[in-house]
Amino acid sequence: MKLKKALITAGGKGTRLRPITYVHNKHLIPLVNKPMLQYAIEYVTSSGIKDIGIITNPEFDELEAWFGNGKALGVHLTYIPQEKPLGLAHAIITAEPFLKGDPFVYYLGDNILRGGIQKFIDAFYENKSDCHLVLSKVKDPQRFGVPQLIDGRIVSIEEKPQKPKSDFAVTGIYLYNESIFEAVHAIKPSPRGELEISDAHQYLIQQNKKITYSIISGWWKDTGKPEDLLEANRMLLQDVEDQQRGSIDDASFLSGNVYVSEGSVIEKSVIRGPVHIGKNCRILNSYLGPYTCIGHGCEILNSEIEYSILMDNAAIRSVDIRIEGSILGKAAVIQKTKGIPNNHRFIIGDQSQVQIR
Ligand code: DAU
Repeated sequence: MKLKKALITAGGKGTRLRPITYVHNKHLIPLVNKPMLQYAIEYVTSSGIKDIGIITNPEFDELEAWFGNGKALGVHLTYIPQEKPLGLAHAIITAEPFLKGDPFVYYLGDNILRGGIQKFIDAFYENKSDCHLVLSKVKDPQRFGVPQLIDGRIVSIEEKPQKPKSDFAVTGIYLYNESIFEAVHAIKPSPRGELEISDAHQYLIQQNKKITYSIISGWWKDTGKPEDLLEANRMLLQDVEDQQRGSIDDASFLSGNVYVSEGSVIEKSVIRGPVHIGKNCRILNSYLGPYTCIGHGCEILNSEIEYSILMDNAAIRSVDIRIEGSILGKAAVIQKTKGIPNNHRFIIGDQSQVQIR
């Protein structure tokens, strides 16, 4: 059975990813040099869905400029501005004219997983469910919607509970028939002022609707915080191809899977994959360690970097200590100063984080 429609969220404010999200929609942050939202679109498309609604924050119009009508990805995208981020159930209400009461997959655009979503769609139809949820075992259920399971059935769901009733998170992949529309209208805003998707699920449970679930066996991540971005990037880099399209001199040494894009030049450097390097970068006399992703037009000179993400046109020059676990925004620069005074000098935006040794 095939679902025809998907709703993907790309709204909200991304406050936990500031300062990057002061100027960019969180869903355009690159993971392995591809915007986060593109993974969501590809997961949905790979199960045959072509008609996709994207919930947007009207303060950021970059998404439409980037993805257009979706033709390049073989889909049709409808942008649905949500006046304010009033919750995930509110986003469904906002999208009602697009969804027109049809069954759909609801996919939170900041969720990254390994493997497709077709098996969840199949389970939704096979079980004749009103709502099919995808669960994942987590160490910190307090951060998520948490189900209480008794005899293999979901008997309640709470949003970000202080005392979770299981160690499962309800992930951001949901399948619904028309019952969800009654639920999102029936619930009231939570103490944080949002129409919570967990409250809509709880309503469905109370109405004796058929709620079923799958458990994710592979990797799943909700990329809410900077450390989640690094982890998602690490996970996705495991599939990177070993391919060199740029120029690499004889004095350089590459091992593991290393993808070097067109126009990039590597000289006198050591690179240990998995590493992905964008177009037109210059890496000179440097070390790039595992799980590093370098955007387009970046420069790394006389420096060492590992387990990090550099966005387009960022640069690291002559830094003595290895840089690890770091995220540099577009055109951000870290470089050694010359001469006196012997000092550190910073020009950093609001809510930036610098840790020096
Ligand atoms: O990732 C799974 C979790 O997602 C679930 O376990 C929770 O039950 C669910 O409430 C949600 O929790 P988060 O706190 O992670 O949601 P967040 O506010 O980060 O928003 C998730 C996505 O939805 C993200 O793509 C931003 C977007 N969004 C969010 C809100 C509140 C919107 O487009 N509109 C909104 O109003």
